[in-house]
Amino acid sequence: MSLVCFPFKEEDVAVVVRNLECAASHPSVTGILCVGFSRGETWFAIEGAKASIEKSCNVRVHLLLQKRIGLALRGGKGDGMNTALGYFLEHPEFTRLHFYDADIVSFSAEWISKAEKQADLGFDVVRHYFPRSSTDAMITWFVTKIGFALLWPNTVLPVIEQPLGGELLLTRKAAEVLYSDQRVRAQSDWGIDTLYTFVSAQQGLSLAEVYIPEGKVHALYGGLRDLRTMLVECFSAIQSLKREAVPADGVHRMESAKAVPELVKQKVGYDIEKTLKLLAKQTWSQGQRELLNQHFDPALAKGLQNASEWPCWGFADEEAWIGAYQKFLEHFEKGNPDWEELLFKVWVARVVNHTMRNVMRGYDCAMGTLRDFLWDTIQKSTLQQQQTKLSSSGAVHSLY
Ligand code: DGY
Repeated sequence: MSLVCFPFKEEDVAVVVRNLECAASHPSVTGILCVGFSRGETWFAIEGAKASIEKSCNVRVHLLLQKRIGLALRGGKGDGMNTALGYFLEHPEFTRLHFYDADIVSFSAEWISKAEKQADLGFDVVRHYFPRSSTDAMITWFVTKIGFALLWPNTVLPVIEQPLGGELLLTRKAAEVLYSDQRVRAQSDWGIDTLYTFVSAQQGLSLAEVYIPEGKVHALYGGLRDLRTMLVECFSAIQSLKREAVPADGVHRMESAKAVPELVKQKVGYDIEKTLKLLAKQTWSQGQRELLNQHFDPALAKGLQNASEWPCWGFADEEAWIGAYQKFLEHFEKGNPDWEELLFKVWVARVVNHTMRNVMRGYDCAMGTLRDFLWDTIQKSTLQQQQTKLSSSGAVHSLY
């Protein structure tokens, strides 16, 4: 009794139609929902294929244009997912809702089966996770997971493997919890994944993560510039939640990972040469320089100044990123072009540093440094929060 939703923009039509057929043939699936960003080529291709899929699989295919739900922010992925959530809640004949990106070349029936099995065991939310290239997932690692580790180190949030993943199953209970939350409905942009993950943890929904060993084969990016909007919206979503509390006792089960395919290990996630130009002198405004000098560590400011003259990245190490992240949490203003560009530049420098220092030493080493960085941040932030609690209760004196 599951509904499978594919949000889409303009995709490879053959891939989308194949994925619809695959989902529609699954025995647990009784409905397909395609939520389109606009009526373009992909929309019309789905409309054209709809009748034949419905006939051969005996499953209804619904095609919807995404609604404007969160009016204060850019209309994007969040509106698409929330449109699907609203549709699902209005159709009680479906008990579970799956989301899959429409452009996944490696999608198979197994993805649906794996999620269904965990929901059968009683998990409220099931997320898929994948082996990813050591230069992919740079927002996940440096913005979302590190942000979760700094703000809520003692919860499930930082250890959720792919908190921004668009492949997940929600039970009716989970969908109700999410859709009734005003913050979720307001998050119409790329920040939606952060909100689904965060609110699920805050409301105590149980979570299982299933592993998809073949990986998610889909289009990767050009320079890091392609990820700028996503970066800003994902960071801003975290910043908007920074004063929230999350319970420490979340239920989280994770299927263990397997050997990573060579193809994924060898993949370079972004165009390095194009990316190095993003820090060049002509990209700096007076306003960016003033914010940098006013709020950030002088070593970071000096490093970025040097990087604007000639490619360099040594300054943007893990410690510098943590220091800068805390300043951004405090002062960043979404919608202010200088702040947005500064966040982007510091993140670019961090990603280039990771690439040149860690990725150069091979896949396993690169992934190890990402995991160590996260683990270390969880540990330090937990201690720091304990210390703050003790000192605010006055009990810290008894330690000495
Ligand atoms: C992420 O960081 O997970 C984004 O998908 C970009 O790779």
